[in-house]
Amino acid sequence: MASVGSAVGLGNIWRFPYETGQNGGAAFLIIYLLCVIVMGIPTLMAEMTIGRKTHANSARAFRKMTKHPLFSKVGYLGVLSCLLIMGFYAVVAGWTLEYMWESVSGVMTNLTAEQSEANFRVFSSHPFMPIFWTVLMSIMTHLIILGGVQKGIERASKWMMPMLFVLLIALCINSITLSGASEGLNFLFKPDFSKITSKVVLSAMGQAFFSLSLGAGVMITYASYFDKDVNIPHTATTVALLDTLVALLAGIIIFPAAFSFGITPDKGPNLVFVTLPNIFAQMPWGAVWAFIFFALLALASITSLISLHQVVTAYIAEELKLSNRKAALVVTSMVIVLSIICSLSLGVWNEFKIGGMCVFDLMDYVTAKIMMPLGSLLLCIFLGWKVKKETILKEITNYGTRPWRLANAFVVMLKYVIPILITIIFANELQLF
Ligand code: PHE
Repeated sequence: MASVGSAVGLGNIWRFPYETGQNGGAAFLIIYLLCVIVMGIPTLMAEMTIGRKTHANSARAFRKMTKHPLFSKVGYLGVLSCLLIMGFYAVVAGWTLEYMWESVSGVMTNLTAEQSEANFRVFSSHPFMPIFWTVLMSIMTHLIILGGVQKGIERASKWMMPMLFVLLIALCINSITLSGASEGLNFLFKPDFSKITSKVVLSAMGQAFFSLSLGAGVMITYASYFDKDVNIPHTATTVALLDTLVALLAGIIIFPAAFSFGITPDKGPNLVFVTLPNIFAQMPWGAVWAFIFFALLALASITSLISLHQVVTAYIAEELKLSNRKAALVVTSMVIVLSIICSLSLGVWNEFKIGGMCVFDLMDYVTAKIMMPLGSLLLCIFLGWKVKKETILKEITNYGTRPWRLANAFVVMLKYVIPILITIIFANELQLF
């Protein structure tokens, strides 16, 4: 449940629709699904294998398994990724709080598409409000981690996830019945393969890793708590299936509605926040739906934020020999600083660009499209080439008690298929051939 909690979050409901929208729709979706199946699920299993085998947090897990100068440091890359991800993730998580507030205060009711866009633009570029919500979100995450309320969060996830599913399905039905919905469905499901470029493939791969929380050590850390009888292939597949399902549902909610209200799908990070208010506006009891939806989305982001926070806190506590409390405080302070910078980069600091991107976009790009795939690449090469095959087979089959037909194929994926694919996708983007 906790792994699903980490995987399902803004990546599915905010990032997936906007990436799909910017990268041509169905063609992107197909490559994304292939990436989940071919690279995502095996990498997820690989992380779980390392986590349960070492029973250590991600930075230590690699050091525990090898003295190799490169591979022993893969965990650090993950720690850095988690920190940078939190920088922009906390900002978007903060937006969900603003939208919860807007749904009860009535700001959001009956906006046209243009008004809703203007509303979002004014809010997200405001020098104070988004920061207020972001800081509040970071403090909430911090308190949950400190208060040991985590048990409570786990319990909450147990009803939150099913509720989120039900709500998403209801919203899907609502979206498909909107006039002009078919155009949106065509965009999402009717591929135009001419749209595939190296950028589309890189984005799809990045989205797969981001959405499954891979290549950053999160799943290693979570799996370090697994019992020896947890069935890794089964657990990894379930997490991936649920995660993908939530993304698909989000797509079915957003695109028919966007087309129906005349919102262009390639808007970028504001797509969902511009489209959703229009959806709720035409629903009976729209404000109530909106409130419940954004509350669930806020909770889903908290469960992801906790997983990100945990990786960095565990590392700092160990490395600097600090108590967990102090380490968590250090991490939360860093996240607050980073997220203030990210938030301001969408407003007053928008002129400052690196490689044509503002800080917010840059952090998203660097983590999802470079660091996470790179972390996964190194992880697969490490497990495939530096760890004895028997060790992997033992771990993945629970010491032979749960034989798995595909165990050998899994090792081949780690050794050859995934490293080659990630390398080709990187090389292609860098126009090396
Ligand atoms: N997978 C999370 C989501 O989809 C984001 C995340 C990325 C969480 C990396 C942890 C690590 O929202």
